[in-house]
Amino acid sequence: MGVYNIAVIPGDGIGTEVTEAACKVLDAVAGKFGHQFVYKTLLAGGCAIDAHGVALTPETLNECKKSDSVLLGAVGGPKWDNLPGAERPERALLDLRGGLELFANLRPAILYPQLSSASPLKDENLKNGIDIMIVRELTGGLYFGDRGRRPGGVMPDGSPKGMEAFDTEAYSEAEIERIVRVGFELAKARKKKLTSVDKANILESSRLWREVNERVAKEYPEVEYEYYYVDNAAMQLVRRPGDFDVIVTTNMFGDIISDEAGMITGSIGMLPSASLGKPGMPGMYEPVHGSAPDIAGQDKANPCAAILSAAMMLRWSFGLGEEADLIEQAICAALDRGYRTPDIAYTQNCIRVGTKEMTTRVMESIV
Ligand code: IPM
Ligand code: MG
Repeated sequence: MGVYNIAVIPGDGIGTEVTEAACKVLDAVAGKFGHQFVYKTLLAGGCAIDAHGVALTPETLNECKKSDSVLLGAVGGPKWDNLPGAERPERALLDLRGGLELFANLRPAILYPQLSSASPLKDENLKNGIDIMIVRELTGGLYFGDRGRRPGGVMPDGSPKGMEAFDTEAYSEAEIERIVRVGFELAKARKKKLTSVDKANILESSRLWREVNERVAKEYPEVEYEYYYVDNAAMQLVRRPGDFDVIVTTNMFGDIISDEAGMITGSIGMLPSASLGKPGMPGMYEPVHGSAPDIAGQDKANPCAAILSAAMMLRWSFGLGEEADLIEQAICAALDRGYRTPDIAYTQNCIRVGTKEMTTRVMESIV
């Protein structure tokens, strides 16, 4: 039994509906196990721009720092699409990641057998299933490096270049080492295979990435270690996804590879994520999908990714493995009984349901 303070950031679009669903499921778990989850709802993203003029206020970040954990829905929408980069709703995510020092982003990509028809891959590519843990570095690299614009000088033929824009990929040994260790530790507890993804044939930052990886690998002789250039990794992921266990990579490559992994499992609506910092610091848990403004407020969103994110919170921040397992089993049970939100309703004989009913169906197994 325990009391846990959760900062809930519904954000924009379907973020509100899916976080509400996740909190309902958490309450069902609380009832069963005698825990108490105390929620504090906070604004971030587009709604915070409307209310306070910025995507994330220092007060909101402070509230998050004081919480035991953060549950986030999604941010962004067409209303704020024309704002300059630094003022967009997405800025809230970067400021939360940076402000809470959430350097390790865990994105599991699992193919649920019940949903294998939703995968765009052929059966022969899926014969070993898909159960990959992507570990994305989240507070460094291109996302946090120097960027700007400057006069671009001249082209080889002497014509003016106009302005030039630049972003910087920089990684230190310490930043690489701490994320790589997360990868090895996870691999050790799973199928003991780690794939490091970089672009060491071109980028100096990737060459250091690989050097540090190889150094740390020596401490984990029980883990099979391999590395791929990111372009090859993108190809192998669609050809033989079943051969991957844990993938560790940089912020930018992780952004791309995790969407690819999401797509091959069938629906981004099923994918949770955890962003973790130093032990003792609050983690942040959010569905991988975005705010989907086109279906917002229509009871069409798949709540599973947010509910599974809540399960990750229980496991990784609160050490409540049994409770997390129960939520994951409840999701599988709802799928087994044929319930599908529109994004995963691929077969004729499934039972099409909305966000609210899907949530109820998941909660039916948590009694
Ligand atoms: C993600 C998203 C974000 C990112 C955006 C919304 C800033 O794509 O979490 O993968 O690029 O990290
Ligand atoms: Mg992304």
